[in-house]
Amino acid sequence: MARAAVILAAGQGTRMKSAKPKVMHAIAGLPILGHVIAAARGAGAERIVVVMAPGASAVHDFAASQGAETAVQEQQLGTGHAAACAGEALKDFSGTLVVTYGDHPLFTAATFEASFAAQAQAGMAIVAFRSHNISYGRVVTTPDGLLDRIVEYRDASAAGRALDLCSAGVMTADAKSFFRWTKGLTNHNSQKEYYLTEIPLIAKAERIGCAVVEVVEAETMGANSRAELALAEAAMQQRLRARALEAAVGMTAPDTVFFSHDTVLEADVQVGPYVVFGPGVTVHSGAEIKAFSHLEGATVARGAIVGPYARLRPGAAIGEDAHIGNFVEVKNARIEKGAKANHLSYLGDARVGEGANIGAGTITCNYDGFDKHHTDIGAGAFIGSNAALVAPVKIADGVYVGAGSVVTKTMAPDSLVVTRAEQKEIPGWAEKFRKRKRAEKAAKGK
Ligand code: UD1
Ligand code: MG
Repeated sequence: MARAAVILAAGQGTRMKSAKPKVMHAIAGLPILGHVIAAARGAGAERIVVVMAPGASAVHDFAASQGAETAVQEQQLGTGHAAACAGEALKDFSGTLVVTYGDHPLFTAATFEASFAAQAQAGMAIVAFRSHNISYGRVVTTPDGLLDRIVEYRDASAAGRALDLCSAGVMTADAKSFFRWTKGLTNHNSQKEYYLTEIPLIAKAERIGCAVVEVVEAETMGANSRAELALAEAAMQQRLRARALEAAVGMTAPDTVFFSHDTVLEADVQVGPYVVFGPGVTVHSGAEIKAFSHLEGATVARGAIVGPYARLRPGAAIGEDAHIGNFVEVKNARIEKGAKANHLSYLGDARVGEGANIGAGTITCNYDGFDKHHTDIGAGAFIGSNAALVAPVKIADGVYVGAGSVVTKTMAPDSLVVTRAEQKEIPGWAEKFRKRKRAEKAAKGK
């Protein structure tokens, strides 16, 4: 049976107090909406429709970038009304539909999968969890464990409010039936809204039962405020750490390592304490990332050592057995096999050839205030400390660059390049100087 998902994301999100729509706030480097789309896709949803507020172009563009469609809810008349707004986009779709909320970043594909499976048995399914939090709708079950109805906390009686089974806001049903049922929604409740939670009652009139899939509360966490966003981030980080450990990544202090949603660490990578992985990082087996390093948009090959205190920016490609040491920044640069930059360097828009050695303080001067230029360092080159390589420039294979040189022109392979002033020596000058100064001081003192 074909599967589709509708993600509700047209709410105001006022508690975030942000110019950005709530679902566009990032968790583990990906907007919340991206996590929901990925989970829905992971559960086999081939069509995904995001319901958004009018003019939410950031939501529209992001959804499109993730291969999802959008539908506009002109007025925020409630969750049931919002779901109905996806009906037009899905009018030709036959199959099963999961409706979920765009501000719940921690739902997993497995939960949506379980909801689809339960729907196949019972006709409909919802997802529930245990909590006493007053912001959730309460789930009333029948003696055989099926859904009787969902009552919003604010509309519930004292007995209803005492229940601890809560609706997580995931509903799975036959798509055509679902959109037909939305036409029967009413707004006879304390908020005068068309509630999604009324759908199971309408379905019941057609003798469609509804199963209740229970998940742990941690998965249902919403992100409505900055505080909740931070909690959701922490929960996601825990999940990503557990996943890395499961994949045989070695971590001395996992709680201090921060991941992005897409971080790829192969088995047998070693990660020290306080390492931050921004988006787009891949580290291959046998590489080591030492403490306090920050990586983003970078790849690290087998056997390479990065850090401590290294910074890899987008486009950094660290080759096999290469070393990037403390306070070395690499941006858009390929560091080839066995090359070393162990201390205090900036390597930007560059290639560092196999086995080359970059001395402490070496800078590729890649920017002239208008454009970026490339520095090419040949295999086996040796760059002395504190060299400035003024791009565009090519250092030929095997060249030695003397410490403190400013290199602007290319040279023959295996040559020595020294551009600093030659050393001058005046024997005895220092002693003469001191004598004169001491005499001057002594004369003033009298
Ligand atoms: C909803 C559920 C509640 C459940 C809880 C789980 C209803 C009536 N209540 O309550 O049973 O326990 O979520 O978190 O469904 N939205 C729109 N358009 C609207 C209104 C909302 O797109 O007109 C979107 C919001 O952007 C949000 C989602 O729907 O992503 C949920 O809306 P929200 O107002 O947060 O519902 P709750 O009151 O939390
Ligand atoms: Mg909510």
